Amino acid sequence: MSNRLVAYFSAGGVTAKVAERLAAAVGADLSEIIPTQPYSEKDLKWTNPLARCNKEKIGKKDVPIKNRISKMDQYDVVYVGFPIWYYSAPNIIVTFLKLYDFSGKKIALFATSGGSDIGRTAEKIRPLIPGDVNIVASKLFQPTDGDEILRAWAESVG
Ligand SMILES: Cc1cc2nc3c(=O)[nH]c(=O)nc-3n(C[C@H](O)[C@H](O)[C@H](O)COP(=O)(O)O)c2cc1C
Repeated sequence: MSNRLVAYFSAGGVTAKVAERLAAAVGADLSEIIPTQPYSEKDLKWTNPLARCNKEKIGKKDVPIKNRISKMDQYDVVYVGFPIWYYSAPNIIVTFLKLYDFSGKKIALFATSGGSDIGRTAEKIRPLIPGDVNIVASKLFQPTDGDEILRAWAESVG
């Protein structure tokens, strides 16, 4: 049992690998954010205007999550990981941040991407979440970043 949690969404497995290493590097608990409806390859074809990813983005839709974290109360720091989608976080991350009471906790965002930085993701998603969500850090990782880089960042957050 840790007071730190790494919660992540990953459509293709890249962010998952970083999340697993991050959790191991600081002894945090690890939980995948699993969409009720898994994303198929077709769902992720952003070059198709009618693909699920584009519809969700345009419709600002919540994305139902299959699983729940039962002991969110025990965590002081929650690292939330995701792939950058459209220069921001996928909608499922906003859905996740609406699901729990994060008051009194530190939220730290981390991401992987095809080249974009994490940029203003925190500022973009913050107004979409009504609750008390204190985003204290944001970091883009390369899949090649070593455990020491992951650990140093996680420790700098809290
Ligand atoms: C719908 C969609 C939108 C994306 N938008 C961006 C983007 O704006 N900038 C970028 O650098 N990469 C973008 N990507 C690429 C992913 O961020 C990148 O491949 C990421 O490492 C995938 O992580 P995952 O394997 O954990 O899903 C996008 C991918 C998808 C499927």
